[in-house]
Parts: sequence; C-alpha cells; structure tokens
Amino acid sequence: MTIEYKHDLVTVADMSEAEVLHKIKLAQLFKAGKQVQLNRPVYAMNLFFENSTRTHTSFDMAERRLGMQVIDFNASKSSVTKGETLEDTVKTIQAIGVDLAVIRHPENEYYNELLNMNLDISIANAGDGSGQHPSQSLLDMLTIYEEFGTFKGIKVAIIGDLNHSRVARSDMELLTRLGATVSFAGPDQWYDEKFAAYGPHLTVDEVAKNSDVVMLLRVQKERLGDELTKFDEAAYHKQFGLSKERYATMKDNAIIMHPAPVNRGVEIDSDLVESDKSRIFTQMKNGMYMRMAILTDIMVAKGIINEADILGVD
Ligand code: CP
Repeated sequence: MTIEYKHDLVTVADMSEAEVLHKIKLAQLFKAGKQVQLNRPVYAMNLFFENSTRTHTSFDMAERRLGMQVIDFNASKSSVTKGETLEDTVKTIQAIGVDLAVIRHPENEYYNELLNMNLDISIANAGDGSGQHPSQSLLDMLTIYEEFGTFKGIKVAIIGDLNHSRVARSDMELLTRLGATVSFAGPDQWYDEKFAAYGPHLTVDEVAKNSDVVMLLRVQKERLGDELTKFDEAAYHKQFGLSKERYATMKDNAIIMHPAPVNRGVEIDSDLVESDKSRIFTQMKNGMYMRMAILTDIMVAKGIINEADILGVD
C-alpha cells in the first residue's frame, strides 16, 4: 500500500482506507515502543479556542514524545481578545518559527481559509464546531480495529446528540468507507437527512441488542440553546441512555465507546463507564498513540522525519 503524506490533517473527507490502516499500524508500533528521529528542532503550538482535556493533553503529550518543543498558547490571554483574526494569529506564529499548529475552533471549516493561504506551518484540526474531529475518529478506528481486527461487517451504533457531534460526522464517514455498517439512535430532532445517507435511525433498544459497537455521544448542553431549559436528564437516560437493563441485552463480545467527556447518568449509567464492555479509557490511551502517528505523517510530508523510518508499516 502506498499512501500520500499530507502537510495538514483537517478532515477525514479525503482519507483513503489505506491511509487509515497505515495510521492504525503506526499508532500500534508507537504503542509497542517505536521511536522516530526529527531531522531538526520542531516547534508545535496548540491553539484551543474551545475547552478540551483529552485532545489538548494527548496532542501535547504526543508532541513531547516525538521530541518536539511545545510553545504555550492561551486563547484568553492572546491578541485574539483584541480582535486579531485566526489567520493573522497563525501567520504570526509561523513568522516566529512555529512549524505545526494544532487548532480547535468553534467555527465549522475554520481551516479552509488557512489552507488557501498555502502556509509553511502545518495545521492539524483538533475539532471544528459541529464539523469534523479527525484525530478522535482515527483513535476510534484504532480502538475498533484492536478489538475486532477488521471493519468489514462490524455493526456500529452511534447514539445521542448527533446534530452537534463532529465525532459522529467523522466516524460515520470513515466507518462506512472501511466497510462497517452504521446505524443511529436517539431523539428524532437530532437526526436529519445528513445522517440518513449513512445509516437508519432505530430505537436504542434495537441497536443496543444488535450492535458490535455501542457508541454513546455526550449531550452537548452548551450547544442546546433554548432546548436546554426543557432538557430532562432522567427522562433522557430512561428513553435514550445506556441503562443497566439495555447493557444486559448487548452481545457477548460487543463494546461500549464514548468520545468523552461523559455525562454520567445521562447518556450512560455511571457504573457502566468502568464496565467490562467499556473501552472509554482505552480510547483515551489510544488517542495519544494515534496523535503520534498523525504528527509523524505530517513530519514526513515536511521532510522532518525520514520516510524510511516508518516504511514497512503498511
Ligand atoms: N473527546 C474529546 O474531544 O474530548 P476533549 O473535548 O476533552 O478534547
């Protein structure tokens, strides 16, 4: 398999099956202790304009484990608060010598304008609005592949706050491309025709019983707007959550996933977060290794890691 090493990673839209499988293998090698050499000092900056624990920390850790220098950035103390645009911010840090910007931003496709500028600095998308979350999706693929050894014929149910979920959008694209079968469940108003092209909308009872992967999504209260006043956590859990009763109907080898943070007792019974079927903390661990793989491929594209260092991965 040959893959094209890309200067930026912003979406899964242009990601081939070969590229996903390559990144999974590379992440697994990092998990087994593989190391790579940078040909010169590399400076990374993580620009988070929305809060994050997992993505921010694991990109930071991945950068350090690859030997990069990580430069502090705090959006609330930056000149963005004085009206500087994202484009000028990124051009500024490029001028100062930063090689890689990992960016989370509330605006969908914030990255288009940056890519149009053909900058030397690389962009890794850590989540854009309700658009894409490619690094989360790739760590999800790693977690599913580790469990089942294939995507072909694996039934994945994505349940909950679909409308606001960049994870659902990235995962449904990659899963169908890789040969998995996707279905959805949750409130009707959070499912629309965008999702219908990827899979049917079924009841939570049905998908809990029949799926290999039961993927819960966080109810994104911060994005519910007027709906928040009417939102009843206990009623949601009863109708759409993974309760102990629904857990008891899951297939023997089925697993639970959730991108986290988790609303315990809402989309999932709190005790089930640590249950035998849960891979929620495995996903977090895999996130660091997958982000090492993502950053390595970007560094190969930039000529900073030798391709020969990672040849044989495929
Ligand atoms: N899954 C995820 O993106 O978590 P954070 O918001 O904590 O990064």
